[in-house]
Order: sequence, then C-alpha cells, then structure tokens
Amino acid sequence: MSRRIVQWLDNRLNLSPIRVALLDEPIPGGASWIYIFGSITLFFFLLQMVTGMFLSIYYSPSTEHAYVSIQYIMDEVEFGSFIRGLHHWGASGMMVAIGLHMLQVFLYGAYKKPRELLWVVGVVLLILTLAFGFSGYLLPWDQRAYWATQVGINMVGTLPVIGDVLIRVIRGGQNLGAMTLTRFFALHTLFLPWLLMTLVVLHLFILRRVGPAGPWDEAQAARISEPFWPKQVAMDAVAIGVAFALIASLALLVPAPLSDPANPSDTSFTPVPEWYFLFYYQLLKYLEGPLEIVGTVVLPILFILGLFALPWLDRGQGRRPASRPMVMGAGAGFLLVVVTFLGLSSYEVASIPRSDPSVLRGTALYQELDCAGCHRIHGEGEAFAPDLSYVGDTRSRDWLIQHFRDPQTLVPDSDMPAYGLNDQELNDLTNYMVTLKR
Ligand code: HEC
Repeated sequence: MSRRIVQWLDNRLNLSPIRVALLDEPIPGGASWIYIFGSITLFFFLLQMVTGMFLSIYYSPSTEHAYVSIQYIMDEVEFGSFIRGLHHWGASGMMVAIGLHMLQVFLYGAYKKPRELLWVVGVVLLILTLAFGFSGYLLPWDQRAYWATQVGINMVGTLPVIGDVLIRVIRGGQNLGAMTLTRFFALHTLFLPWLLMTLVVLHLFILRRVGPAGPWDEAQAARISEPFWPKQVAMDAVAIGVAFALIASLALLVPAPLSDPANPSDTSFTPVPEWYFLFYYQLLKYLEGPLEIVGTVVLPILFILGLFALPWLDRGQGRRPASRPMVMGAGAGFLLVVVTFLGLSSYEVASIPRSDPSVLRGTALYQELDCAGCHRIHGEGEAFAPDLSYVGDTRSRDWLIQHFRDPQTLVPDSDMPAYGLNDQELNDLTNYMVTLKR
C-alpha cells in the first residue's frame, strides 16, 4: 500500500533523483559516530525554531509587558515552562553541538582544500548563532538580561571612530530601552532565522557538492565508502534522540531562570552573561584601562579573521593531526584558555550573592540582634514569640516598620523590645521579613 502511494507520488513529482541526492551521498571510510555533530546542530536549530514560534504566541516585546508575558508563560500557560525550558537549554545544546562539530572538523583537517568554502560558511553560521544567543538573552527583560546586555553593548562603544554610532544603532537611541527591545526581538525572530536558514542550506549544498571529507588516513578513506542512508542516518537519529532526551530532562527539572524585572536605576546588580560568553567576560577582566580595547576589539577581530583564514593558513600536505603540529598546538592552547577562564569565571559567578543586598543585610541583622532567641523561622529558633516563617504573607511593609520602631503602638502588651534601629536598618530588616512567604 505505502509502496503504491510512493509510486503514485513518484510518477507525478519525479522524486527519485532527489532521494538519490539527499540520501545516497557516499561517505569515504564509511559511516561513523564521529560525524553526528553536524546533524545534532541542525536538529537543535529546528528545535529552537519550533519552540521559538510557540513562545512568540504569548511573548510581548515591550518593556511594560515582556517580563510579565514571560511570567505568564512560566506560571499559567499549559506546558509553557517546558517549552521555554526547551528553548533555553536548547540554545546551550546548540552551542555545545557547534563546538563539538567544529572540533571534529578541526581535528580531521576537514576544512582543507577543496572544502574551504564549507568552512567559511560554517564560521559565519557560528557568528550568527552567537548573535542569536546575545539577542535572545535580552528578551525576558529581567535584571540579568538588562545588565548583561548593557555590558555587551558598552563593549561595542570601545570601537574607535564608529563605536558611538554603532552603539546608537544597536540600542536604537541613547539608552537601552523600548527601542532596543523591539530591534533585538526583530533580529532574533526574523532577521537571524532567515539568514541562518539560508546559510544552512548553502552549507549543506556545498557539502553535497564537494562531499564529506572522511577519515584523515587516505588509505582508509579509499578502502571503503558507504552511502549516507541508512547507517549514518541511523547513527544521526540515535544521537539526536539522546540529545533531545538530555535537553527535555533539563527543561523538566531545571526551569529556565527569570530574575527580577529589569530596573535601570538599580546599578547594584552584578551582570552575568550566558555561560558560552563567560570565558570571554573573564578575559575582559584582565584587560583594563588602555588594554581594554585589546579585549573588546583587537582579539575578537583577530580570532574571527584567524578562523576564516584557517584553510589558507594550514596548507601543508595531509590532514593527519600529527603532521599539523602548529595548528593542533594553537587549537589546544585556545581550548586550554577557554576552559581555564570558564572555570575561573564560574567560580566567581557562583560566589555572587543571588539576592538583594538589602535583604542580605536584613538577614545579618536578624542574627546579630538574636531575634531567634524568641522567634522561629522554619524550625530554627525559640517558639516563645510568633513563628515568622510566613510573616511576609500576613503583615504589610508599613505595619512591620512601625512594629519594629515601637511594638507597643501596635500590640499594647507586646513583650518584644524596641531596638532603636535607624532608617536603613528598619528598611533592611523589613525587606528581609517580606521575603518570608509561602
Ligand atoms: C524578647 C523576645 C523577642 C525578641 C528578642 C524579638 N521579638 Fe519579635 N515578637 C515578640 C513577641 C512576644 C511578639 C508578639 C507581640 C507583638 O506582635 O509585638 C513579637 C512579634 C513580632 C512580629 C510580628 C509577628 C506577627 O505577625 O504578629 C515580628 C515581625 C517580629 N516580632 C520580628 C522580630 C524581629 C525581626 C526581631 C529581632 C530584631 C524580634 N522580633 C525580636 C518577642 C520578641
């Protein structure tokens, strides 16, 4: 039956040549698990497209509504938190997949003649993916988004001559605000997807014209050759299944983060970029003052130019890693720097206090004044006075401040001492109390 349908369609659409072009591509040296990363990357891109389309049903790219629309997706929309989780972790998955894909191509010298163009398009795809990450990070319009983007955009400002103009173009005005949000949204959901899609097609087109490189050992490559279908397709499918299972579990177990709403006047917030920018963020910390421009302009430009030029820099005979010591050394050195800086940076980021500094001061005050000598919070402290575990649910800020000033004005027979706190202490302690909610 299905055969007859295929036959029927084939008679009308003449599909056989397309099937040959798509699936019968010979792989020198045969199918291998080492070739799966390109397909995984493509899968992640498709996953981002689909989840992104669903998110855009509820997301509103305005400074008033962006944050609450994300909150709504997380709390109210059926499967909303899962879909946003897939999109959030999928972005990270795509970065990892691209990294591994490039590592494989790098190790195998697969960018060498005649595959230079394939590599060049690949580098552009990498840059576009990073742009996806950067533009997407702003969209939830929370504190993380706002301050990390602020830092990123300010880096552009260190570019000589065109820096100021460029900054204004990216922001859409003098400040990071409504104009920035809409243009990042347009970039993220219209410009970049179309560009990326076109280049993916070009990437695959070139791949099919020159064919995959295969193993670096010429003799081994010549010995056997297997078509893409069915073995490599099966391996790719298994790998994609595993990758999806990983991302789906993450999406279920670890909800995508959402900090407080963006607050341009709260400069106490420590900006932290997404992890795949962290190593670079760490590097920038060491390059201060006159050296800043080395980190923000010189190194990134050299790096990108170096990537583009790689096939022409590495022109020796053969693709064996052993016969390319310079290139392998440079690659290993780069990886070492990335891993070290990522490690250092994660360590520093982990030690940033997550909450509001005022709340932290209030918590410290609670301990200093030994409030636990009478009160209990989640089982800690004496039960002489009311349990404060959920006092934020029952008492208002004004009530609490007045109560701390002079308990007897509100509860005439109160045994609670008046501590004679100053205004800031009153405020800090109250800020801590109102966080005690169910
Ligand atoms: C000597 C014991 C004692 C100490 C120490 C004490 N309290 Fe109390 N607190 C009480 C008593 C008794 C009440 C109930 C009467 C009242 O509301 O004033 C109370 C009430 C409160 C309430 C109102 C609870 C409610 O919902 O009615 C808050 C909030 C509170 N205390 C916070 C604090 C904090 C913060 C500290 C430390 C700075 C502290 N207390 C130290 C005895 C104490």
